[in-house]
Amino acid sequence: MQNLIKIHLINHLKVTNDRAEEAKEFLKDKGYLNSNYLPIKGDNFVLWPLIVESVPFEGKIIRCDGIKYVKQSRDYRSKLNDEIRDLAPRSFDIFGEIAIIKLVDDLRNYEKEIAEALLLSHTNVRTVCLDSGVHGEFRLRDLRLIGGENNFVSIHKENGMEFEADISKVYFSPRLATERERISSLVQHGEFVLDAFAGVAPFSISLAKKGCKLLSLDSNPEAKKWALKNFSNNGISKNQYNFYNSKFEDFDFKSKKFDRIIMNNPTNCLHYLEKALNLVAKNGTIHFYNICPKDETFSITNHINSDYECIGKNIVHAYSPSSSLFAFDIRRNSI
Ligand SMILES: C[S@@+](CC[C@H](N)C(=O)[O-])C[C@H]1O[C@@H](n2cnc3c(N)ncnc32)[C@H](O)[C@@H]1O
Repeated sequence: MQNLIKIHLINHLKVTNDRAEEAKEFLKDKGYLNSNYLPIKGDNFVLWPLIVESVPFEGKIIRCDGIKYVKQSRDYRSKLNDEIRDLAPRSFDIFGEIAIIKLVDDLRNYEKEIAEALLLSHTNVRTVCLDSGVHGEFRLRDLRLIGGENNFVSIHKENGMEFEADISKVYFSPRLATERERISSLVQHGEFVLDAFAGVAPFSISLAKKGCKLLSLDSNPEAKKWALKNFSNNGISKNQYNFYNSKFEDFDFKSKKFDRIIMNNPTNCLHYLEKALNLVAKNGTIHFYNICPKDETFSITNHINSDYECIGKNIVHAYSPSSSLFAFDIRRNSI
């Protein structure tokens, strides 16, 4: 909510500063104070806003413009005309100072008005771009500038960390903040973690902050560029991580085993699961993300054998009307 000042003519009680608090208590107690307005402070006096014509307290009644705080919705749609308002989406993503919004085809002619409304309501936003979907191996968003500055690089703050990226060249989802927090609450200091689809390293960095050692991979060279910057900007020591620009399926892990594996490539992950199952240490955990139908027809147990157990299944967020992003926590048994 944002505050907006509006002015109306109302009665005030003028008292000197030394009696201001006493007057306020009296007016409040008697129900004379107009709580919809603010006190006006002057040189050694205060004007208390009243809901009555006069009061039995020493002081002068002054009729003047009152200052009212009107709570104004931060919902940018309140700045749109009726025709657009009902169709415009309530929610949108924010990456740092960039707002990323999806619009139905009927609104394409109004994208400038929508961007303007967003810029006016969210003063921290300097760029508004239209999101026409995520595509390809690198999961890049199809973005087009519709308002503000033409700059897709920003710094996003999340759980006390900062992630910088050009969101037209790498994947980043602010909607995973809670999930990243969940995973970092599970780890033990000193764990060896594989972040197999690391992007600009938000999972890796949040786990490195908890004392884990990271091996991180991403096939997008731009992801590596920003990830290295982010490790450094978040104060992660170089001996705590290795980031390789490689496909997970091509990477030679030699005899390495991991205490934990993050598999966050949810539109295309199932056929990588077998390799990950062989890389996790006994008692280790794989966090496997998959877009699944909401009707629960997908069962992870069909994809793991009795050496493994699904110890947790959570919906991270809705993905489409019929599907959600699920997180499966798969543990390798000790025997
Ligand atoms: C959904 S994004 C997740 C990024 C990151 N984990 C995050 O939370 O922001 C998937 C990432 O996997 C990368 N990727 C896609 N296929 C890959 C593969 N076969 N091997 C390694 N990385 C891959 C993409 O470039 C993309 O950055």
